[in-house]
Amino acid sequence: MTLDTSVAPEAPFDDQITIQQLTLDPYSVYKRLRAEAPVLRVKAVGRTLLTKATDTKYVKDNPALFSSNDPNTPMQRAFRAHTLMRKDGAEHAAERGAMAPAFSARNIKQCWEPIYTQIAEDYVSRLPRGETVDLFTTLAGPFAARCLTHLLGIPEASDAEMQRWSQILIDGAGNFGWADALFAQCDAANDEMDALFDAASDRLRAEPDQSALSVMVNAADPIPKSQIYSNIKIAIGGGINEPRDALLTILYGLLQDLDQFEAVKRDGLWADAFEEGVRWVAPIQVSSRLVTEDTMIRGFHIPKGDTVMTIQASANHDEEIYEDGHLYNVFRPKLPHQAFGNGPHFCQGTHVARRMLANIMLPLLCDRFPNMRLPEPDKVQFYGFGFRGPRSLPVTLN
Ligand code: HEM
Repeated sequence: MTLDTSVAPEAPFDDQITIQQLTLDPYSVYKRLRAEAPVLRVKAVGRTLLTKATDTKYVKDNPALFSSNDPNTPMQRAFRAHTLMRKDGAEHAAERGAMAPAFSARNIKQCWEPIYTQIAEDYVSRLPRGETVDLFTTLAGPFAARCLTHLLGIPEASDAEMQRWSQILIDGAGNFGWADALFAQCDAANDEMDALFDAASDRLRAEPDQSALSVMVNAADPIPKSQIYSNIKIAIGGGINEPRDALLTILYGLLQDLDQFEAVKRDGLWADAFEEGVRWVAPIQVSSRLVTEDTMIRGFHIPKGDTVMTIQASANHDEEIYEDGHLYNVFRPKLPHQAFGNGPHFCQGTHVARRMLANIMLPLLCDRFPNMRLPEPDKVQFYGFGFRGPRSLPVTLN
């Protein structure tokens, strides 16, 4: 059946919402939009925002109508290549499949879990007992970076390099103002990464392992080198911030309500603490898709060529699914959330992230410092529109 979308009205238009509001306090905006305007063209973002869970899932589950292949984003320039995140269909599947063996359940258990456990032991044992330290800089960022170097096959990269490259790639992919200086930073970082990947590829050809770079360069019919490198870069851009922010968010959620903290420690509810944390404040809050044909959402005409933005952060607070979604509550009924996305681009690192945090870091850290406390919970600031998490997390370790 062909939809006659021409008779449908355009979605309402907003010129009041600012990027600053969406960066500082997005959830109050999304709450209002879910109630009043769940399909809204927002001038400041230049996109049609979708804030209801059924709509965000519908879009991601329908790649033929809502393509990831948006040529108008700065990502291609920042990464010096078209990455798998911006591809559809067979091309996307081939590139995702090329990395997939590194993310298999077997490799997570046999290869990454022992390494990650050792890294967690090392990094937690460096933390000073009895002092107040910022777990953002001392633990969450470095831990995420070090684990990722092993998964990707580049353990020679330092934690500082990984975090710097990750941030530059993220900034470049979000450089919608096309600022030259930012792209120049991306070029310099790309040069550094490419040189390191060249050396690592030689090493891994001689001594293959289960890492993403190794399985790609040693494949019988490898994808082009440009794609191997750009997809390793996607994993660098997408594999540090999210576990880092998830860890800090979960710790904040637990420490602002010590009854939950005690129950989680006592009953080992680490998986619940993890899922609830990423539901509560989704580390990747939004995603964009390009509309390939005139269509309708909630009775509104969505024209071909429009860009819709699925707000998974909002979907995860949708009143139709969650009661008091704005609260961190490890005891809430288990319901599917959208923090890892949906459809063909569903996060490839989901199980790695669960293992790193729910199975390894959270129980270890809370076992070593069972009485840790937030000295000033009211001063913890969450920040970010595209990516979101606490800007810092000072914790007194006991
Ligand atoms: C709590 C941690 C994490 C969260 C919440 C998260 C979230 C997401 C989301 C929402 C997407 C989909 C974006 C879209 O639909 O456009 C995604 C994609 C992706 N994530 Fe994650 N991520 C996490 C950790 C990781 C880790 C540790 C890796 C490791 C490399 C990773 C690798 C990827 C990759 C490669 C993609 C692209 C998949 C594709 O386009 O087919 N993620 N992630």
